[in-house]
Amino acid sequence: MNTPGTVLAAGLLDEAVARLRKGELVAFPTETVYGLGGDATNARAVARIYQLKGRPSSHPLIVHLGSGDSLDRYARAVPAAARSLAAAFWPGPLTLVLPRGAHVVPEATGGQDTVALRMPDHPVAQALLGAFGGVLAAPSANRYGRISPTTAGHVRDEFGSDAPLVLDGGACRVGLESTIVGWVAGELTLLRPGQISVASIETVAGPVRRLPASAAPRVSGSDVSHYAPRTPARLVEPPALAADSSGVAVLARHRCPGDFAGVAWLLAPADAEDYARLLYTNLRRLDALSAREIRVEPVPDESAWDAVRDRLARATAGASSR
Ligand code: TXA
Ligand code: MG
Repeated sequence: MNTPGTVLAAGLLDEAVARLRKGELVAFPTETVYGLGGDATNARAVARIYQLKGRPSSHPLIVHLGSGDSLDRYARAVPAAARSLAAAFWPGPLTLVLPRGAHVVPEATGGQDTVALRMPDHPVAQALLGAFGGVLAAPSANRYGRISPTTAGHVRDEFGSDAPLVLDGGACRVGLESTIVGWVAGELTLLRPGQISVASIETVAGPVRRLPASAAPRVSGSDVSHYAPRTPARLVEPPALAADSSGVAVLARHRCPGDFAGVAWLLAPADAEDYARLLYTNLRRLDALSAREIRVEPVPDESAWDAVRDRLARATAGASSR
């Protein structure tokens, strides 16, 4: 059950399950980001998630399954392509939006008739789901609109004295939220990019439509302020990264030039998956420096960078409209 660096203290899993059965919340690691989990069949538990996160109750949550076998319990009218996608990518960072089954309370889906389902690929998440024996509604374990947590420490930082029980499973392997697809007007549609690429989904399920961000209002990750540091953050091309840099913190892809006079120049990994894994940790580090501005060097315009580019666009959307 444990991966290196992942040792749950004896009794902690039992304690977590006991709390979930009482309708309380437990934060747990997944391969993408940490989730703030509650029983998806208990309206009171789901209400607690919205309240602690400060999330509008119309924004639907992802429901986490311990096994792909329970797909038909929590969704109905499951298309064959959804079964193929589940078989190919679960457990893993792919979320399927499907017609809601009777067992999920409508509160978990923001009152919608669809439900977002995924089976996480993390030993602690799987142990928790297995021992609980039910399904967990879990958004990322951050306050609404803030940076998603990729370590147990991030979750504690987010919630302070309000923090629920946090199961520590080490740093998340993927670091960005799951890819989300659903059927919009009968067509398989990308609702949020993630590590599982459109190309790999297409090899299993045929053509995938991409919606412009503005056309996907049901995905709360599409909100302008999402994934945002508190410090104003902007995308800045390399020639201007070091200009007028007093009080500036930079998330860069190139070495620090001699004329940089800012607070920090953080060199991010060159590889897209490594960059993604560390992105939220890096943004949190820069956000903690009380800089006047965070400047982020744009990433390549290649499909391997789609998910990173999407999160950077959202993290920097607030500053340009301020
Ligand atoms: O990797 C992940 O997906 C993480 C981990 C914890 O599993 N969870 C996560 O949850 O990112 P959250 O709540 O931060 O984002 C859930 C996304 C939102 O953008 C939400 O709008 C979308 O899923 N979503 C949920 N149910 C939906 C539905 N029925 N239709 C369309 N979008 C839905
Ligand atoms: Mg989130």
